[in-house]
This record gives sequence, C-alpha cells and structure tokens, in this order.
Amino acid sequence: MIPTPHIQVDQQGIIAETILLPGDPLRAKFIADTYLDDVVQFNTVRNAFGYTGTYKGKKISVMGTGMGMPSIGIYSYELIHFYGVKNLIRVGSCGAFQEDLKLYDIIIGMAASTNSNFQSQYSLPGIYSPTASWELLSKAVAIANAKSTPVHVGNILSSDIFYDDDRESWKKWANLGILAVEMEAAALYMNAARAKVNALCILTVSDSLVSHQVTTSEERQKSFTKMMEIALELA
Ligand code: HPA
Repeated sequence: MIPTPHIQVDQQGIIAETILLPGDPLRAKFIADTYLDDVVQFNTVRNAFGYTGTYKGKKISVMGTGMGMPSIGIYSYELIHFYGVKNLIRVGSCGAFQEDLKLYDIIIGMAASTNSNFQSQYSLPGIYSPTASWELLSKAVAIANAKSTPVHVGNILSSDIFYDDDRESWKKWANLGILAVEMEAAALYMNAARAKVNALCILTVSDSLVSHQVTTSEERQKSFTKMMEIALELA
C-alpha cells in the first residue's frame, strides 16, 4: 500500500489494532521505552513518533497526535481507515472545572462536549453528542477498580481554544457538570463513531481552573503512570 500523507507505514499489520494516543510525541516514546517489549518505531513524519510493541505479550501501538482536534482528526482517520486500527485510546492531560477534582486525579471522558466545528462535516439536522465506546469505557472502569485506582467518569469539554479571550466562559460548562477541559476527544469520538470503531479518552488533571494550581512537566511525567497502566491493560 501507499503510505498516507502523515504516517509513513506502507503495510497493514505494522500498527496494532489497539493504539494509545498521547498528544506529546515524546510521551509516546516514553510509553514505548518504559512499558513495551520488542518495540519497533513506525513513524517519524512531522515528529509524530509512533511505536508498536507488546505489553504483557499483547500487541499494542502508541503514537503522538499533536494538540487539537484538526491534528488528532487527521491521525485517527488515517489509523482507522488505512491501517485498520479498531481501539483508539487517548491518554492526555486536562484542566479541572470542578472543585472536588485535584491535581493528578484521573478522568474518563464518557462524552465530549465541544465548541469545535468538526461535526459540521456530517450536515446533521441537530447537535451530535460525541460519546466514548461503552466497551472500552466499562473495561477501563473495571481495570481501575481492580487496581483500586479512583477515577471520575463523566462529560468533558474538547475545546478549540486554550487562551480564551473570555476568561470566565468555562464556568458555563462547569455549571452543566463538565468535569474538565482538553482539546482532542470530541474529534476522536466522532471519527471512531463514523467508522464504527472504539475510542476512549483517559485524562490526568494537570491544572485546575478552580484553584489555579498547576503541575510541573517533571511531576506530570511521573504521575501519569497510573493512567497509562489502565490504558495499557485495555490491549
Ligand atoms: N485547557 C485545555 N486543555 C488542557 C488544559 C487546559 O487548561 N490543561 C490540560 N489540557
């Protein structure tokens, strides 16, 4: 096969049916280096590093998606439609909207509300609710419970805007119970739903819009292991 514009793989079977998708390509490298055996790097185009290996004997891939819905929209589409990927699990960070959410808490996005225009391509006669795969969601919760790792499950916001001109607008989403903000899940959920494959977004709280606390990048690297271990068990 001919490689896609953004992934240099020219054969089926190089990328596993289950893939972890961090935003940061260096986090993809970290996951491959730390957790996977028999690792092969399959992509370097635009430094969107991608790796395939095994976790506890099961084949799994990991690839950086970059930030934002246009970027994850491209990578997830190519992974699904050209490389046969069936389970796409975003592992990322988020900003908490609710007071009871602390730094490093784990959130699973049951649904992803959005201010993005991504769904306009479907010309729907209404508003779509991007939703996680129940299969992956229920499995992830069971894995977390078995590890006694607390998780919050609910609606998240996938936003196109990091530096919002209206500093208070997030409170309107918070009033509707949205747990936290990130920038990719809604596009991932829509691409997966359209193609009838599975997607899930697992997040770790890296900052709080309520308390204004933030984590350092070094602290993040270490603390994200609990989230990673839940995601890897989904293979
Ligand atoms: N906004 C959007 N995306 C994020 C944030 C945030 O505050 N924190 C981590 N990802």
